[in-house]
Amino acid sequence: MTARPSDGNPTPRAFRLPEDRALVNRMGLNNEGADAVAEHLRDTSRSIPLGINLAKTHDPAILGDTATEDFLYSFRRLAPLADYVALNVSCPNTAEGKTFEEPAAFDGLLTAVMNERDALGLAVPVLVKLSPPAEVSFDPGPVDELIDLALGHGITGFVATNTASDRSSLRTDGARLKEIGRGGLSGRPLAERSTALVRHLYRRTGGRIPIIGVGGVDSAETAYRKIRAGASLVELYTGLVYEGPGLIRRINRGLIRLLERDGFASVGEAVGTAA
Ligand SMILES: Cc1cc2nc3c(=O)[nH]c(=O)nc-3n(C[C@H](O)[C@H](O)[C@H](O)COP(=O)(O)O)c2cc1C
Repeated sequence: MTARPSDGNPTPRAFRLPEDRALVNRMGLNNEGADAVAEHLRDTSRSIPLGINLAKTHDPAILGDTATEDFLYSFRRLAPLADYVALNVSCPNTAEGKTFEEPAAFDGLLTAVMNERDALGLAVPVLVKLSPPAEVSFDPGPVDELIDLALGHGITGFVATNTASDRSSLRTDGARLKEIGRGGLSGRPLAERSTALVRHLYRRTGGRIPIIGVGGVDSAETAYRKIRAGASLVELYTGLVYEGPGLIRRINRGLIRLLERDGFASVGEAVGTAA
């Protein structure tokens, strides 16, 4: 979701990498904009919790303070309708390719959003969605700075992770990757890296705040790994593309089996047990 409507990037903008069970996408945040989405939501009744993911409008001319204002516009319109808001800080927000994960921009955005939440008198949970680390073993310095800033602002939780921009360790051949071009890599190649960040977040926060684990979940086993690393909720996208909607039922059934096997009475008991 972005403040202003966007058609996104020209098509094709999403590509399958079947040998890797992965996707590359550069959708470009195609959406109808905050006003239209707020209207749709007002007309819809629902029985399940609704998380709304906010990003900066897809327009490289929106920079700095204007970018923060753009986020705030969406927040004002949509936070009152959401059960939680995820701030997608892992999308490029400046012409130089810096993102809201650059500490000063991150700090400024979180200050503005949390002030706005208070001003609106809302208690809506606010989560921050982070980029994956470059590798399973990574230098924790930069992400720790963000984690500590987020905790200082009273952020409710984290979403780990967004897509990756690198193309390391893929089976898909180089010529095909070149033909596809730029975009975020999702799916199986992301699984271990995103789980590593879930684990790191869980350790760093002492398991005090919820973590949504996302990246390469395509089975009960991969969902379970996220949970044991510290995720209390699991999300998936690419897995659904390859496996279809029946995947959700298979994951739920498989999780029951895995929890029973390991002597856990609930998902909650398993969270962070392999952190
Ligand atoms: C086609 C497509 C569109 C996406 N759009 C968004 C988006 O608008 N905002 C966002 O935070 N993440 C977006 N993502 C990232 C996913 O939410 C998720 O973080 C990432 O794909 C890793 O999970 P997966 O391996 O289960 O797909 C998108 C992913 C795909 C494949």
